[in-house]
Amino acid sequence: MDLRHHVRDIPDYPKPGILFRDITPLLAHPEALTASVEEMAKPFLDQKIDVVAAAEARGFIFGTPLAMRLNAGFVPIRKPGKLPFDLHSFAYELEYGSDELQVHVDGIKPGQRVLIVDDLLATGGTVEACLRLLEKCDAEVVGCSFLIHLVALGGEARLSPYHVHSVLEYG
Ligand code: PRP
Ligand code: ADE
Repeated sequence: MDLRHHVRDIPDYPKPGILFRDITPLLAHPEALTASVEEMAKPFLDQKIDVVAAAEARGFIFGTPLAMRLNAGFVPIRKPGKLPFDLHSFAYELEYGSDELQVHVDGIKPGQRVLIVDDLLATGGTVEACLRLLEKCDAEVVGCSFLIHLVALGGEARLSPYHVHSVLEYG
């Protein structure tokens, strides 16, 4: 299946100069959605993943079905003011702004094998923040899985030395 065909390009959104890769057509297409989850999970099927961790909002869309496919739990990583218990926090820069992410201190137990999931890797700021949060939890990060990798933005280098898997690469 040609998943690329289901990603829509929107120039100058949300700011001039940004080419937004809109996945909503792919999400609305049953076979494309199922194939995306399967391709994102494939390298990790035999990796004994305990927990999938993902950042809101688009990370949640793929994080939960991947957790179910991998027989793993799901831990939400959220923006400030959303999680009610004790927290680890990390501030980061985006391609078009800045933000902060948080996780419950007991969300991931020390040594648990964790896969980080997101829809898209751009500058790597979001997933780097997730990695720093998981390191604070003493998690064993097995890798990161994305539907889309915007290669030209160089985000993969920020995720070194972790295993980065992506289904669709854009130059
Ligand atoms: C988008 C996307 C990734 C992140 C990628 O999320 O879902 O999480 O940007 O960019 P980066 O690699 O430069 O960090 P966004 O912060 O726009 O929030 P959303 O998921 O709520 O739409
Ligand atoms: N998140 C960060 N950069 C993005 C882009 N160019 N398209 C869609 N989502 C993004």
